[in-house]
Amino acid sequence: MRKVIAFNHNWRYLERFDEEFVDPAFDDSDFAVVHLPHANKEVPYNYFDEKMYQFVSCYRKTFDLSDEYKGKRIFVDFEGVMTYGEVFINGHFVGSHKGGYTPFSCDLTEYVQFGKENVLVVKVDSTERPDIPPFGHMIDYLCFGGIYREVDLRIVDPVFIANVFAKPQDVLENKKSLETSVFLKNTTPKEETISVMVELGKDRSVTALTTKEITLQPGEEVVDRYLENLMDIELWDLENPNLYEVTLTLKRNNEVFDSFETRIGFREAVVKPDGFFLNGKRVMLRGLNRHQSFPYVGYAMPARVQRRDADILKFELGLNVVRTSHYPQSKHFLDRCDEIGLLVFEEIPGWQHIGDEEWKAVACENVREMIERDWNHPSIFLWGVRINESGDDHDFYTETNRIARELDPTRQTGGVRYLEKSEFLEDVYTMNDFIHSGGEKVLRDPKAVTGLDEYVPYLVCEFNGHMYPTKRFDQEERLIEHAMRHLRVQNAAGLDRHISGAIGWCAFDYNTHYDFGSGDRICYHGVMDMFRIPKMAAAVYRSQLDPRKTPVLEPATLWTRGERSQGGVLPLVIFTNCDEVEVFIANESVGKFYPEKEAYPGVDYPPVIIREIPSTGVWGSAWHSVEFVGYVDGRKVKSKKFVSNPIPTKLTAKADDEHIQADGIDATRVVFKLVDQVGNLVPYTNEAVEINVDGPGTLIGPKLVGLIGGCIAAWVKSTEEAGKITITAKTNQLTSNTVTIKTTN
Ligand code: GAL
Repeated sequence: MRKVIAFNHNWRYLERFDEEFVDPAFDDSDFAVVHLPHANKEVPYNYFDEKMYQFVSCYRKTFDLSDEYKGKRIFVDFEGVMTYGEVFINGHFVGSHKGGYTPFSCDLTEYVQFGKENVLVVKVDSTERPDIPPFGHMIDYLCFGGIYREVDLRIVDPVFIANVFAKPQDVLENKKSLETSVFLKNTTPKEETISVMVELGKDRSVTALTTKEITLQPGEEVVDRYLENLMDIELWDLENPNLYEVTLTLKRNNEVFDSFETRIGFREAVVKPDGFFLNGKRVMLRGLNRHQSFPYVGYAMPARVQRRDADILKFELGLNVVRTSHYPQSKHFLDRCDEIGLLVFEEIPGWQHIGDEEWKAVACENVREMIERDWNHPSIFLWGVRINESGDDHDFYTETNRIARELDPTRQTGGVRYLEKSEFLEDVYTMNDFIHSGGEKVLRDPKAVTGLDEYVPYLVCEFNGHMYPTKRFDQEERLIEHAMRHLRVQNAAGLDRHISGAIGWCAFDYNTHYDFGSGDRICYHGVMDMFRIPKMAAAVYRSQLDPRKTPVLEPATLWTRGERSQGGVLPLVIFTNCDEVEVFIANESVGKFYPEKEAYPGVDYPPVIIREIPSTGVWGSAWHSVEFVGYVDGRKVKSKKFVSNPIPTKLTAKADDEHIQADGIDATRVVFKLVDQVGNLVPYTNEAVEINVDGPGTLIGPKLVGLIGGCIAAWVKSTEEAGKITITAKTNQLTSNTVTIKTTN
């Protein structure tokens, strides 16, 4: 049977490479011991030299292989090595790979030793090599180095399943079907008679199966199997993301010798000239772009943290779509998108620049690797096959489209551009429309953008971003305008039936090169900061959640007399999904206020905007506290208070998880906030905080930090020992509550 052994622990690592490291006899005892995902260099939060992680390093791993695997094929599978990897086993070169965002495998069979020690060596070049996308010119993000995703050792029969593409069909019929393409490899020199079984199951119980005997010649072959007349299949959609397991089994003389499992969903997702349709129903796509980077460790975050990002996008921000700008992202993130019903537009690595023929060949290979890795994810509805925002290149993009359509005839292609009237070779015209800079113009007419006579499938993939960078601790008026720009664009998109949706720039602030951003190597373009702590703009999205499940009431105010130009709090924008909001100043009701349905008919839940309130007084009169109360269906569902005289009263600590794996890899976030008497963040304090982690856990990043706009987060990683991690933070005056995280093996 197939055996997959996680190869993430106990690598030996050095921040340089020398040819002698390839020699299996080389003594690496003074290398650091590291686990994967691993950042080749931890970086400060900001103001670092981005060259500090751009070097060539060495990863070595020693392992034994039992005699029982003799006669099998042995592979090592890398999920992501930034940017170029060369792999050696027992001193022999076995493969290399260009590109840090897609997986690759090396066949070790010829050189492994059974019953003895083996030495795997990876030379990792994390420089910005101009021969590999996205490099060759400038890019507005950092591609952090190292073996930053997981590695497996895979042991299979000489005849094995290399991949599986399961394609649901007749999805909207009562009787559905499933076509499964099984990619088989026969590495023996002779033909082999085997049987291939395909099972479709849900929650581990089999719904349908088919078996067929075939004769395989040496080499590769694709076998297509069909399951038909499938009844009672539940569709995958945003509310009920039903998933099915497809299990492939190979038998020889009635004995199972290989199996492979993947997950799928039955759904029809298509962008048409008049919108996006999921299972035949029009759905307005509302989303944000995600970069996969985090403070300190860059790209190297484990499964739980990747999955959490998907949860944040869906449940905290209420999005229904994410674009994986500008590259294929972690499989854990995508798995979670499948599980929670978050649509994904995934694209190949690149940023504005197209390189030479060799470079383009790597980009074409990236299309192939991305699709072959991810074609079973029901959440993915669109393949991005252009270099983000590059100019036209007829031959190159004809080829990327051809590859995508040939590999996956079930999905549309897109190709993100910002130039008008660029050549339309894809199925969906995917456009970064940065026309809105606060004025009257909000979105362009799709026909004016495409220059075509007809409306075509059209999606806005970016807006805002560099047009209005905003820090979480910026001045209130800026935070509000930042939020309003997101609202205006989403509203305009909702009103244009030829626009299938709008995906804003972007979800989270991200580290970038000095050519971009605020000089401190951060682009403050997120609706959340790098720690995933929300800015006011986050509430624009969050307030679109269903009020009956998640009532939202977020007044965009610090409730102070002198924060704004000319003082006061008006106009007061409240992002809410409540039907009405009552305001109490100094405990007295000053009236009820209603959502601006006429001004913002393009969103489901427009904000309440209070332009006048009695008793907020003038400069020189007393300032009072306030309470906002939200009602849904006449019932009070939410209230939010602000005090007139905020004083830091509590330092709160809250972890995303109470329980993580004791594997030295798993991690969770803890958010620390300095809050006032009613629990509101005090956004202009930058007090120093000391974070203490006790027990079997380690802190990612520094122990001594300054609060950034009243709060900060840190990720805490397990060790390999089971137990209880306790975390507390303290400022000069306050000590936080203690957070306890249990770790188990
Ligand atoms: C776009 C680009 C993004 C980001 C954004 C900032 O042009 O595609 O990667 O740089 O601008 O607004």
